[in-house]
Amino acid sequence: MSALEGAFCRSAPWRLAARRVVRWVIQGVSLTGDVLEIGGGNGATAAELARANASLRLTMIDYDPVMVGAARKRLAEYSHAAARQGDATQLPFDDETFDFVVSFLMLHHVVDWEKAIAEVARVLRPGGIFTGYDLTASRAASWVHLADRSPHRLIERGAFEPVLAQVRLDAVGLRYSFGGRVLRFTARKPALST
Ligand SMILES: C[S@@+](CC[C@H](N)C(=O)[O-])C[C@H]1O[C@@H](n2cnc3c(N)ncnc32)[C@H](O)[C@@H]1O
Repeated sequence: MSALEGAFCRSAPWRLAARRVVRWVIQGVSLTGDVLEIGGGNGATAAELARANASLRLTMIDYDPVMVGAARKRLAEYSHAAARQGDATQLPFDDETFDFVVSFLMLHHVVDWEKAIAEVARVLRPGGIFTGYDLTASRAASWVHLADRSPHRLIERGAFEPVLAQVRLDAVGLRYSFGGRVLRFTARKPALST
C-alpha cells in the first residue's frame, strides 16, 4: 500500500469518515450472520460494521501484521468481531463459511485481484453477497501509487464484471462514481436450486 494511503487509512479523519463511507458503499445491503472483511486495514470499517450491528459475527483479515495489531485494539470492545492476519488470495477459511464478504478500497492493492475474487466466491455460502468499493484506473490513482512504488493493479473500467461472471457471482449492483474513478459493487452467489 502507498505510504500516503497508509497514513490516510490510519488517520483520525478517516476513522470519522468510515461510518459514512460504509453506508455509501453497501448501498442499503443489510448485513447479517457471518461477515468477512478482506483487507480491513486498521479496523476502522470493521469497527463501524460491528458498532452498527451487534448480531453480526464479523471476521476481518489483513495481509499486514501491523494493521492487524491496530485492528485488534480497535475491535477489542466488540466481542462479536475479530481480526486476523491473512491473504485475500488464499483465504484461510473453508468453502461456504460466510453470508457476506465486504471489501473497502483494497482490491487494487492485490496485484492478482481476480484470485481474491475467486476466493471470495469460494468462501461465500450460496445466496451470499459480496459488496464493496474500489478505485478504478485513472491518471490520479496511478500517479499516487507509482510515486511511492507500492504494488498495485488498478481495476480498468469494464474489467470487473467479466471476473465476477467467471467465478459465478451475479452482479446485482455496479455503480461508477466520481467520473468513473470509483466503483461500488454488489454481487451475489446464486442460491442452491431445489
Ligand atoms: C487502502 S487500505 C484499506 C483499509 C480498509 N479497508 C479501509 O478502508 O480503511 C488496503 C489494505 O489492504 C491490505 N491488503 C493488501 N493486499 C492484501 C492481501 N493480499 N490480502 C489481505 N489484505 C491485503 C493492506 O495491508 C491494507 O491494509
